Amino acid sequence: MATATDRRGDESAETLTASVVGASGFTGGELLRLLVGHPNFEVEQATSREYANKTVGSVHPNLRGADLRFSDPGDLDSVDALFAATPHGVSMQQIDAFEDAADTVVDLSADFRLDTEAEYDEWYDGHVCPEYLDEAVYALPEFTREELPGADLIAAGGCNATATLLGLKPLFDAGVLDGDEQVVVDVKVGSSEGGAGGGKASSHAERSGVVRPYAPTGHRHEAEIEAMLGTSVSFTAHAVDMVRGASATSHVFPDHPVSKGDLWTAYRDAYEDEPFVRLVAGGSGVYRYPEPKAVAGTNHAEVGFELDPGNERVVAFSAIDNLMKGSAGQAVHAANVALGFEETAGLEFSGLHPVGSP
Ligand SMILES: NC(=O)c1ccc[n+]([C@@H]2O[C@H](COP(=O)([O-])OP(=O)(O)OC[C@H]3O[C@@H](n4cnc5c(N)ncnc54)[C@H](OP(=O)(O)O)[C@@H]3O)[C@@H](O)[C@H]2O)c1
Repeated sequence: MATATDRRGDESAETLTASVVGASGFTGGELLRLLVGHPNFEVEQATSREYANKTVGSVHPNLRGADLRFSDPGDLDSVDALFAATPHGVSMQQIDAFEDAADTVVDLSADFRLDTEAEYDEWYDGHVCPEYLDEAVYALPEFTREELPGADLIAAGGCNATATLLGLKPLFDAGVLDGDEQVVVDVKVGSSEGGAGGGKASSHAERSGVVRPYAPTGHRHEAEIEAMLGTSVSFTAHAVDMVRGASATSHVFPDHPVSKGDLWTAYRDAYEDEPFVRLVAGGSGVYRYPEPKAVAGTNHAEVGFELDPGNERVVAFSAIDNLMKGSAGQAVHAANVALGFEETAGLEFSGLHPVGSP
């Protein structure tokens, strides 16, 4: 079998094989939706222990009609690209099997996002194969695009971290912030962040109508955000009554005067050539600032800002679909870059309007 590396740049071989491990979950289902429609991937395998031998449509009703059945993850086919959408801790246990099965592994969990074993000791429950951390490339393609081509192990950035970083990083890159200022982030998230298992806190009756702080301090995504920004961030998350979406509001206090023009320059410089980031800052209409509903089901992110001169404050907003730009879409985008495909392949569609709670 030709490897992904062999095929990269070979215009006659436009289709690579792919598998999804953890395909019965929420992000796994989104990966399947994207990969089944992707011009350069053919899905060879979708794993689930619970649903082995059942059709993927029996779990993901939007995929009824897809000619694919779940198989056991203990029996991995050889493919070009393997996408792992398993709970935290599984990929680090199984990375050798994943790398044996595929030339390119894209992991959606947090298992390879941080750089050092010490960070896993601090933020998670340690790491069982820290020797892989050097090799892994953190994927938030807007910021790590240059490191992705040819990467063998890709760690897709976390949903809350992605939402937060898209709003904040341009301010650091443009010098609006230099790293000494206080940064306060509040993220509202939908119930699908908890995965298909969900648990009691995400059951419909308990979740309905809530605006519930669930990680007021010490959220694990703080580690990714701080690593990327190089400064400390005060982060709080709320569980709210939506299925999809992460909406980040960041409050920052520059230590020098900043104009609205400075902010437009910072964000335009960061995103004017980005295919998946839309600037939404004021303007007219009902949706004047980033809105999860407007990007639901898509790989788009909306980023916006407002200046509060009286308080010497800048407020940065960003909205994503946690299952798309926050995970499956981000993973496919990263794979496109890593494997030399068109960056937007398989991801070029808009969401719906009007739409109910996403
Ligand atoms: N949900 C989000 O918004 C989001 C966003 C960004 C990143 N992520 C990350 O993406 C990963 C998946 O999240 P999710 O929300 O899709 O979770 P999920 O809905 O709970 O799905 C987990 C999947 O993993 C499989 N699985 C569980 N244990 C396994 C094991 N030991 N070996 C092989 N397969 C196993 C499950 O199927 P079987 O048990 O049937 O095998 C299921 O298909 C997590 O690491 C999560 O942190 C999630």
